[in-house]
Amino acid sequence: MRDLLPTEMATWTRLSRAAADLCARRGYAPLVTPIVEHTDLFTHGVGAGTDIVEKEMYTFKDRSDRSLTLRPEATASAVRAYFEGGLNQRPQPARLWYEGPMFRYDRPQKGRYRSFRQFGVEAIGDDAPGLDVEVIELSGAWLRECGIEEVTLEVNSIGDFKCRPGYRRALQDYYRPHLAELCDDDRRRFETNPLRLLDCKNPKCMPFQAGAPRTIDHLCEECAAHHRAVLGLLDALGIAHHQNHHLVRGLDYYTRTAFEYWDPGHGGQQNALGGGGRYDGLAEALGFPSTPGVGFAMGEDRVVLSLQDAGRTEPESGPQVSVVPAAEASEAPAMRLAARLREADVRVVVQHGRRSLKAQMRQAQKLGVSAVLILGEEEMASGHVAVRDMLLAEQSVVPEEGVRAAVAQILGGRLVPVGGAG
Ligand code: HAM
Repeated sequence: MRDLLPTEMATWTRLSRAAADLCARRGYAPLVTPIVEHTDLFTHGVGAGTDIVEKEMYTFKDRSDRSLTLRPEATASAVRAYFEGGLNQRPQPARLWYEGPMFRYDRPQKGRYRSFRQFGVEAIGDDAPGLDVEVIELSGAWLRECGIEEVTLEVNSIGDFKCRPGYRRALQDYYRPHLAELCDDDRRRFETNPLRLLDCKNPKCMPFQAGAPRTIDHLCEECAAHHRAVLGLLDALGIAHHQNHHLVRGLDYYTRTAFEYWDPGHGGQQNALGGGGRYDGLAEALGFPSTPGVGFAMGEDRVVLSLQDAGRTEPESGPQVSVVPAAEASEAPAMRLAARLREADVRVVVQHGRRSLKAQMRQAQKLGVSAVLILGEEEMASGHVAVRDMLLAEQSVVPEEGVRAAVAQILGGRLVPVGGAG
């Protein structure tokens, strides 16, 4: 688990703002659920045979001996909240979005952390293919808004509970003669979760994937029609996509549409920037009335990583102005002056503490501010403030009422330096 430090937070803020803005404009409402849930929610929702539930959950007993888990994802929580919060009584579908930390006991490496953040949306209560395309459009718009350019959208349909058993049998028939040649994980998955054989990364297993039966050749008529409608809408809207016959996703709740964004610069599939799909059976698996849903979650850590590699991060926005109380009684006036400037949206700090003016100016230099406002004995006595333009190294004394205009001139006259001057 890692800290997110101020140096990268401006980029994270951009991601959050883009999420809030794009969601609001599409009628998606924010949802916040607890980061801890009953363990059953994930074993029943995500699925007992998945990597997440088998190896990656942070599970512990609380003081009442209940088994709780730090959420590894938020879709199951969103569906729980949809029913418990009565969102199923409101106009359908419920359009929801969330952002926050998720926890998986994964092997930590670049782009894979034990605490990571997702931006996700869930549209619950409608099975129209247009809704699948709506969330795909939203996720793509978000990536673009964040500054991600090179990414491929991989799309597949993995059928539903009616047609998937037949596909699973076809897949097992195909793999059975090769069982001895597969890795241990795949031999186990052959029984428990054969779809996962299609995206095993072991070099021993990959050669068998190309010839494997394709999900779309085993869809029932309803699933096939749904998939055709999704692809047709994607085409009509000009949303570039790649029909990927091996895309199956790692969570059990998916039905029909599955999609992922791959970043060619970061090992493609290994480091998907995000993914999602339809989960029409999830509500029932959690013990609620059968209700369709579709959504996605984007890995924000990976998006930030990709922006860092492309040199497209946001600079840290440090203070623009500092106020130096250089007289005995000037601390309160300095803080009042700072407050007035903040009302005009200027980023201001007060340099508290009794240090020499020289030391204060050195400090202001390090902060990288454009202007320093000095309240010394003389200025205090005459109702003036000394205003120093740090770039031009020019200083003038202006009446208090004129400070705002003087600062605006300094800030407006050129690009405002941001971040520490180092
Ligand atoms: P997921 O594919 O498990 O889907 O995760 C979505 C994204 O979260 C991944 O594509 C990746 O970018 C990011 N991610 C996952 N694990 C890690 C990690 N250890 N470190 C950093 N980033 C990570 C879900 O979570 C589903 N709930 C998505 C969904 C919503 N499906 C329907 N609705």
